[in-house]
Amino acid sequence: MTTQTIPLDRPELTLEQRLMRLLTGNWVTQAISVAAELGVADRLADGARSCDELAQELKVQPVALYRLLRALAGMELFCELGDRTFANTPLSERLRSGVPGSLRNTAIMLGQEHYRAWGELLTSVSTGDPAFERMFGMGVFEYFDQQPVAADVFHRAMGEQARRTHLAAVEAYDFSRFGKLMDVGCGHGELLAAILGANPDLHGILFDLPSVVRHARVALTERGLGERVESIGGSFFEWVPAGADACIMSSVIHDWDDRQAIDILRNVYEALPPGGTVLLLERVLPGPNVADLGKLADLNMLVMTGGMERTEDEFRVLLKQAGFELERVIATKSSSCVIEGVRGE
Ligand SMILES: C[S@@+](CC[C@H](N)C(=O)[O-])C[C@H]1O[C@@H](n2cnc3c(N)ncnc32)[C@H](O)[C@@H]1O
Repeated sequence: MTTQTIPLDRPELTLEQRLMRLLTGNWVTQAISVAAELGVADRLADGARSCDELAQELKVQPVALYRLLRALAGMELFCELGDRTFANTPLSERLRSGVPGSLRNTAIMLGQEHYRAWGELLTSVSTGDPAFERMFGMGVFEYFDQQPVAADVFHRAMGEQARRTHLAAVEAYDFSRFGKLMDVGCGHGELLAAILGANPDLHGILFDLPSVVRHARVALTERGLGERVESIGGSFFEWVPAGADACIMSSVIHDWDDRQAIDILRNVYEALPPGGTVLLLERVLPGPNVADLGKLADLNMLVMTGGMERTEDEFRVLLKQAGFELERVIATKSSSCVIEGVRGE
């Protein structure tokens, strides 16, 4: 077998410097996350401002805020203009709320429960179980069910990351051949909204936990799509509603281990007619030594939910065990693929 080193950025750095850059990644995550949570980029939306003024508004210690922004300005997040004054950069603009391409909620999320669970990665590697459950005493979705503020950040973060993925899927796949499409584990409904928006004759079903699907219903109604969707609350481990000829799941199967994923897919099988289509919108892991964010996302799944990212062969086997044949894997302009399975008789 030939081996190849994973290329690291900045090859002009020494090995020690490259390793230190990687080792201090947790410092960078926290620094960005805190700036995002404070809303610094939003306060710089109209131009440069002094750190003292920002600190007063944010009710934080001015020298400490200066040290935070100075460190981030060394990484192209914010620009220090002198006299302790800072402005946004193209990168920090993405920490503003509600702008196109915003990752503000993602930045906040990755500095909170996710960050704490990653601190227990050794536990997960030792046991194969999600560290999150050990730390918080319950699964991540049960936790979000009980913590509406954290849940709101999580679902907004999912929406931020998924928006590009969703639009890329709409571009790459012809959904117009279906009459009714069900989005299982729909989150706040952005995917179905994008698909229905591009396919005016299509109808849809939103399905997620009751506390989540409520938000999705409101979001689709606000976009004028309320007439074309039903929303149903429930757990996909118990059942999946019938009535659609195709079912899509975006970033759902990767949350679960093989046994749980097969349970969900079997319930989808029961809900679809013979020949019905299941579509998974997921990362498909590349082979050895290829640098790919999916391989870190896979560790994130290990720590947070006990789930995993999978290769094409692993998806084929999973679908087969639930009664589906993997027909096609369609690449999109995002890092996720549309994995198409067809229900057997
Ligand atoms: C990672 S999010 C993906 C959300 C959305 N599909 C997207 O692409 O942004 C996983 C979704 O699965 C939902 N979920 C988790 N457990 C569930 C269950 N037992 N039954 C139904 N939905 C569930 C969560 O509420 C969440 O909306």
